[in-house]
This record gives sequence, C-alpha cells and structure tokens, in this order.
Amino acid sequence: MKVLVAYYSDTGNTKKVAEAIYDAISESEKEISLATEASDLSDYDLIFCGFPVQSMGLPGKMESFVKTLPEGKKVAFFATHGSLRGGELAITAFYSALGLAKNLNVMGTFGCRGAVKPNIIEAFLKKVEFRGWALEAQSAAGHPDEADLDDAKAFAEAMMTKARAK
Ligand SMILES: Cc1cc2nc3c(=O)[nH]c(=O)nc-3n(C[C@H](O)[C@H](O)[C@H](O)COP(=O)(O)O)c2cc1C
Repeated sequence: MKVLVAYYSDTGNTKKVAEAIYDAISESEKEISLATEASDLSDYDLIFCGFPVQSMGLPGKMESFVKTLPEGKKVAFFATHGSLRGGELAITAFYSALGLAKNLNVMGTFGCRGAVKPNIIEAFLKKVEFRGWALEAQSAAGHPDEADLDDAKAFAEAMMTKARAK
C-alpha cells in the first residue's frame, strides 16, 4: 500500500494531528504533504485528508483538494475544531466533507479539538450569533494534547486495517 497524509493547517493544530497519523502508519510506503502541494494522487491507495473546521465547514483550499481526488479513491478525513468533540459544529463540517466525497470510498472520520487563537475568540464573542461558539471554543486551549494525538494514531491504524481489507 502507498499512503498519503494531505492536510491544510492555518495555526499548526491540524499539522500536529497529521504528523501523528503519519507516524502511526507502518508497513507501507507513506508521504505527508500540504494538500496544496500534493500531486499524482492516483498513485496512492489511501489518502488521509485533514483540515481545520472553519465557519462550520471545510476551508476552501481543502474543498478544492477533495474535488480533485480520483473517483473511488479510499480516503479518511480528519479535522481539528474549536468546538466540543462530537458536537454539532464539528459534525456539520464532516457532513460537508462527505457531501463532496460522494464518489470516494470513505473509510472513516476523526476529529479532535484544536486551540483557537485568542483574537478570533474575542472577535466572535462580540457577535451575538457566534457568542455561543466562542464561549465553547475557549476550552479548546491546550489541544490537540497527547491524548488527542494518541487517539489520532489509533484512528490511523484502524483506517490502515480497513483499507487493506477492502
Ligand atoms: C476563521 C476561523 C473560523 C473557524 N470556524 C470554526 C467553526 O465553525 N467551528 C469550530 O469548531 N472551530 C472553528 N474554528 C477553530 C479552528 O477550527 C481550530 O482552532 C483549529 O484547530 C485550527 O486548526 P489549524 O491550527 O490547523 O489551522 C475557526 C477558526 C478560524 C480561524
């Protein structure tokens, strides 16, 4: 198997998770790259696609990347987000990713929290419609932490097992 970890990251949170996933991939050829710099996508048997949740969805650059994935490709999505793990906001973003991925073979998804820059939180606290999210996002400070990265590694191993079997 040949595996690619392709990600996009503004402030480094998703990059940390991408590196943990990359480290956990064993007994395979593997590469890690910014999604904007990845090429020859048809070469890979499995592609991990990572992004920070932005405005409840995928950042534009990741959306463009997902659209270029060859039909039927095995993919696994991962994301970091300021909101609570398993919460509505994070789930909405995965739905967007899965909506784009209709012609792909999705193996699974993984999300964990990622610290939000204080200036972003302050700006959103002032907007009535985003205040709830900004309050929730404050407690993401310190993430991704070691436990998040361990979970990401377990996710990577599970996706590898699944991709080999299918
Ligand atoms: C412009 C912007 C919009 C964001 N929108 C959301 C959002 O809708 N939901 C959420 O949970 N987190 C949101 N976040 C928080 C990021 O998803 C979180 O901090 C993430 O870990 C950043 O990852 P990165 O360091 O890889 O860029 C937003 C952050 C920014 C900068």
